[in-house]
Amino acid sequence: MMERKVHVPLDSRAYDVVIGPGLLEQAGKRIAPLLKRPRVAVLTDETVAAHHLDALRAGLASDGIEMSALALPPGEATKGWPQFSRAVEWLLDQKVERGDVVVAFGGGVIGDLAGFAAAVLRRGVRFVQIPTSLLAQVDSSVGGKTGINAPQGKNLIGAFHQPSLVLADTAVLGTLEARDFLSGYGEVVKYGLLGDAEFFAWLEDNGPALAAGDMAARVEAVARSVQMKAAIVVRDETEQGDRALLNLGHTFCHALEAATGYSDRLLHGEGVAIGCALAFELSARLGLCSQEDPSRVRAHLKAMGMKTDLADIPGELPNAEALLELMGQDKKVVEGQLRFILARGIGEALVTGDVPPEAVLDVLRDAGA
Ligand code: GLY
Repeated sequence: MMERKVHVPLDSRAYDVVIGPGLLEQAGKRIAPLLKRPRVAVLTDETVAAHHLDALRAGLASDGIEMSALALPPGEATKGWPQFSRAVEWLLDQKVERGDVVVAFGGGVIGDLAGFAAAVLRRGVRFVQIPTSLLAQVDSSVGGKTGINAPQGKNLIGAFHQPSLVLADTAVLGTLEARDFLSGYGEVVKYGLLGDAEFFAWLEDNGPALAAGDMAARVEAVARSVQMKAAIVVRDETEQGDRALLNLGHTFCHALEAATGYSDRLLHGEGVAIGCALAFELSARLGLCSQEDPSRVRAHLKAMGMKTDLADIPGELPNAEALLELMGQDKKVVEGQLRFILARGIGEALVTGDVPPEAVLDVLRDAGA
């Protein structure tokens, strides 16, 4: 039996994350216990709909559940007010009631947008996440962060709204482009690096097989990632402290994403991978971890065929000073001070506000900025 279940014990907002191949076919059976009447409204994107919407419809119908669906354009540009209001008004047109369930069927963009729509529709309806990208399965579908982007920055408008169930069908990952899969893998590696050295060592051994399609390895990697995320979210649901650990690599990543215009020059998980390598480099420079640690991080990312260096990002990048300035726009700035997630070693991340800007500039300059 390849299926795994991770419980997220958040009192009245507790839910299960079910992980394994073939869950779309069983969507009806899995979702039925949540429903007051046999119908759901599904928000998805056009790419996911083309590949998988028929399978979801059939999976729901096998338990007598009807669905209506709205497919939004794929891509980060969807995560703004225009498509959000379109989605909310469509849900109202579908006469979704307080007791009904909205289904978010897609990657991180759809999960965040649909979760936020569910959070505000009729002051809050329940929703189910059916994440279809590796990134969404290991990160964005779990933990209740929902929202959209503002012209001023990413994810600046939103709400904490936990899903009622997450169905992570690992068979669906088979239709991802290799680059998208590896981008999601950047978030998987992040979990090993931030809190579980044994998991990182497991990834060093099993990463190539899971990238090549080994289903048992995929299920294991998703389940361990979700376990770690769930444990952190339960400790700190609204990110007052420990939850910031999940942002290992993200301070550098957000600056690089802003510098590349959130374009396909750099996918989010690629930026996370480069950001993790830079965060370990910075940790070693500050004497927190040994110099072998950043080398080991980069060696694994390289072995997986991932971007590890600024030079791997196509096109020109701003200089180190401009990148540091972009980091200052990060949500993690508190009272003007930039917070970094650094590490005392692989699997031992910590949050600190105590980083001299000059050390960050040195790391960026040595990385080629
Ligand atoms: N993706 C980071 C978090 O959920 O806190």
